[in-house]
Amino acid sequence: MRITVNGRQRDVSSEPVKTLLHVLREDLGLTGTKDGCSSGDCGACTVMLDGRVVNSCMVMVAQADGASVVTVEGIATGGQPAEVLHPLQKAFSQCWSFQCGFCTQGMLVSCYDLLQTNDNPSREDILTAIAGNFCRCTGYQAVVTAVQQAAAEIRTSDAGAQNERA
Ligand code: FES
Ligand code: FES
Repeated sequence: MRITVNGRQRDVSSEPVKTLLHVLREDLGLTGTKDGCSSGDCGACTVMLDGRVVNSCMVMVAQADGASVVTVEGIATGGQPAEVLHPLQKAFSQCWSFQCGFCTQGMLVSCYDLLQTNDNPSREDILTAIAGNFCRCTGYQAVVTAVQQAAAEIRTSDAGAQNERA
């Protein structure tokens, strides 16, 4: 099987029924994606599959053959190891948007997906986007704050880029 992971083609020779989650972690070494429940309930394993947010513990790797996957490692813009964090990653750090951090990568991927189509999300928009991401440490308000801070940074940098082109 061949999967494009974070922009790079990867050949995978594992059992087709192995989950995408376990292939990412065990075969490709991308341990940012977490295994919280293995049953589609917690969102710790969230990745993007062909532009859609999915629970990677519920996807057989054969279903991802030929597809494009983005993991939390792929949302940074500086490659691996990440040298340039995505505004969301910076804002989560600055706003203390996690405690134990187990839910964090799933939150980041869900919010990254939200910001692809909404650069000024309301509190309700953000809570809807992370409805499938459970935090046992009650970090939701800090997540909302961080996403709105990141969105503001993205708007500012987009406006700056437009001014430079004008
Ligand atoms: Fe996939 Fe919990 S590990 S939803
Ligand atoms: Fe611990 Fe969310 S920060 S589960």
